[in-house]
Amino acid sequence: MRIGLLTGGGDCPGLNAAIRAVVKQGLGEYGHTIIGFRNGWKGVVDGDVRTMSREDIRNVLPQGGTLLGTARFHPHSADGGLDGVMATLEAERIEALICIGGDGTLHAANKVAEQGIKIVAIPKTIDNDVYGTDLSIGFHTAVNIATEAIDRIHTTAESHNRVMVVEVMGRHAGWIAVNAGIAGGAELVLAPEEPFDMDRIVKFLKHRHRSHANFSIVVVAEGALPKEGSSMQYEAQLGKFGEIIAGAIGERVANEIATRTGFDTRLTILGHVQRGGTPTPTDRILGSRFGVAAVDAISRGETNVMTALRNEEVVLVPLEEIAGKVKHVPDDLLRVARVLA
Ligand code: F6P
Repeated sequence: MRIGLLTGGGDCPGLNAAIRAVVKQGLGEYGHTIIGFRNGWKGVVDGDVRTMSREDIRNVLPQGGTLLGTARFHPHSADGGLDGVMATLEAERIEALICIGGDGTLHAANKVAEQGIKIVAIPKTIDNDVYGTDLSIGFHTAVNIATEAIDRIHTTAESHNRVMVVEVMGRHAGWIAVNAGIAGGAELVLAPEEPFDMDRIVKFLKHRHRSHANFSIVVVAEGALPKEGSSMQYEAQLGKFGEIIAGAIGERVANEIATRTGFDTRLTILGHVQRGGTPTPTDRILGSRFGVAAVDAISRGETNVMTALRNEEVVLVPLEEIAGKVKHVPDDLLRVARVLA
């Protein structure tokens, strides 16, 4: 078979493990030809292709990013995009496509599948908000990075008697904030799932600093928002594609805390540091498992499905079941973050 392969949307650590597994399993086990598209769906429209060989995947396991390149480009939203996709797939005689991506890429995959193309998707995003899978590639590494950052911020917070606000990624779900907040021992975690009340935050911090501590760490997800009707009026700051702008909520929360408590307060925006560098073994293993499973699925004739981790097992879920949905942090995990504050 001639199988196309692409990585789309934001990059993350662990993508190369998945690419490597697809190439190894495709070439070695089945004798397929793997055609890599550069820069996600953009490369499909542009016909930017390369035939993947074992040479391409040598020593890539510890490398972050994606050796295929990626782009935030959705063919169904671009003029003539879907026609371009179909033309390239026909010219390259692609029989099935493996798409590694987050919600945007998978939504596009669903649109391309509707045109009759066989698709198997692999979920990746440091945000861990792809519906239908317990874990997405990249999340484990991002939580490690954010936790290490919080550990480091602890010592300087304590030395300077400061409130340290740490903004982490997560526009629609607070997986990184909640997990790194718990692991790093943050006093407060603000996640999109649970709008916050600035009055309560201020009361809590004042009480804590008066009674038993001289510093506090507040972890804020990019998509956190105050409760409607509460004393902090705020509207999410959006960019030209309607995306939440990094740093905006962190800055506002830090300013509110500084003004209302009088405590010396600083903001750290972790940003793309969370997406870079060496993947953890967990992300390498997850990427490898998903890559092998995707090639097996295509070889069995499965189509329009996504590989997913459920209760330690890799399974396949229909793309249409997950398209357009967000996996939110469950209440029990949010509660642990609250209890430990
Ligand atoms: O890929 C997911 C993500 O890292 C989000 O956590 C973050 O909000 C967004 O991408 C940043 O996107 P960009 O790299 O396009 O600025």
